[in-house]
Amino acid sequence: MERLFSGMQPTQDAHIGNWLGAIRNWVALQDRYECLYCVVDLHALTAPYDPRVMRERVLNLAAAFLACGVDPAKSTVFVQSAVPEHTELTWLLACQTGLGALERMTQFKDKSDQNADNINAGLLFYPVLMAADILAYRAQVVPVGEDQVQHLELAREIVRKFNRAFGDTFPEPRPIVPEGSAKRILGLDGNAKMSKSKGNAIALVEEPATVRKLLASAYTDPERKRRTDPGRPEVCNVFTLHGFFTAPSRVEGIAGDCRSAALGCVDCKKELAENLLVALEPIRRRYLEVRADEEGLRAVLAAGAERARALARETLVLARRNMGLVEGGRRA
Ligand code: TRP
Repeated sequence: MERLFSGMQPTQDAHIGNWLGAIRNWVALQDRYECLYCVVDLHALTAPYDPRVMRERVLNLAAAFLACGVDPAKSTVFVQSAVPEHTELTWLLACQTGLGALERMTQFKDKSDQNADNINAGLLFYPVLMAADILAYRAQVVPVGEDQVQHLELAREIVRKFNRAFGDTFPEPRPIVPEGSAKRILGLDGNAKMSKSKGNAIALVEEPATVRKLLASAYTDPERKRRTDPGRPEVCNVFTLHGFFTAPSRVEGIAGDCRSAALGCVDCKKELAENLLVALEPIRRRYLEVRADEEGLRAVLAAGAERARALARETLVLARRNMGLVEGGRRA
C-alpha cells in the first residue's frame, strides 16, 4: 500500500467545510492507503494565538477527526509537535530550498499583505515544514485543498533538488483530490471559503438551535429580493449545500421550485437545516463522547506519535547519512 499523509491546523474548531472538503475524504482513503493524519500545531504558531487555548484546540481537532470516522486502528493519528523529526527535517530541507521560491508562494504573499507589521520567518518557512511533514514518512500521496497545491509543487521541487544533490532519498509526493470531494466550501456569506475566523462557518458540534439560526442568515441568490422573485440555484450557496445533505431526487425538486418561486429562501434554508442536523447528529454525539474522555484521546495520540516517530526516525537516519552528516553522538 502506498503511504499517505495529510494535516490540518488547529486554528479553529472544525466546521462543515473541513469535513466536506477534507476529513470526509480522509475517512474514505483509509482502506486504500497507509494513512497518517496529523494535527499540525507547529504550522498554527505562525499566526498570533493565545497559548491558553492552543492545547484545547489541538485536542478538539483530534477529537473531530475521530468523530468523523478517522479510525486509529487503521490510520496513524497524531500531533505534529510530538514528533521532533518534523522540525529537524525542516532544517535539512530548508538548505535545499530557494529563498525566491518561498517568497513567491501565494499564501506567503497573502498573509504578509494581511499582516504587514508581523511577517515572521515561520510564515516564510511554512511550506518547508509542510514538505518535512510529508517527506518524514516518504509519503507518496497527499490529499490537499486547492489552496495547498502550490505548496505541494514546491515540496516536489525540493525532493528533486535533494535527490539530485544527495542521491535518491525521497519519493515525489503527488497531490490527490479524491472523487466527489468538495474542493472549496464557501461560507454562509456565499463569498469566502468557509472559516471560523471569518464568522461564516457552521462548526461540526454546533447546537441545533445555532445551526438553524446560522443557516437562516445565510446568503442566497442576491438578485432574489422578494419572495415571489424566481431564484437561480446555480449561484446560490444554500443550494450547493443541499447537494451535500439532501437526497438527490429532492435536490432536483428544490432547483425547480426555486426557479419557479414556488419555494422561498426561508423554507429552503429550513429544509437544509433539518437535513444538515441529521447528518451532523452522529458526529456531534461521537465528538462529545470522545472529547469527554481526555485520557483516552491522549492515549490514542500518544500511540500515534510513537508509531509516526519510528517511521520518521528511519527517514532521518537515511537523510542525515545521504547528506554526509556524521552519525556520531548516536550509539549504534
Ligand atoms: N498547510 C495545510 C493547510 O493549511 C496543512 C498541512 C500542513 C498539510 N502540513 C501538511 C497538508 C502536509 C497536507 C500535508 O491546509
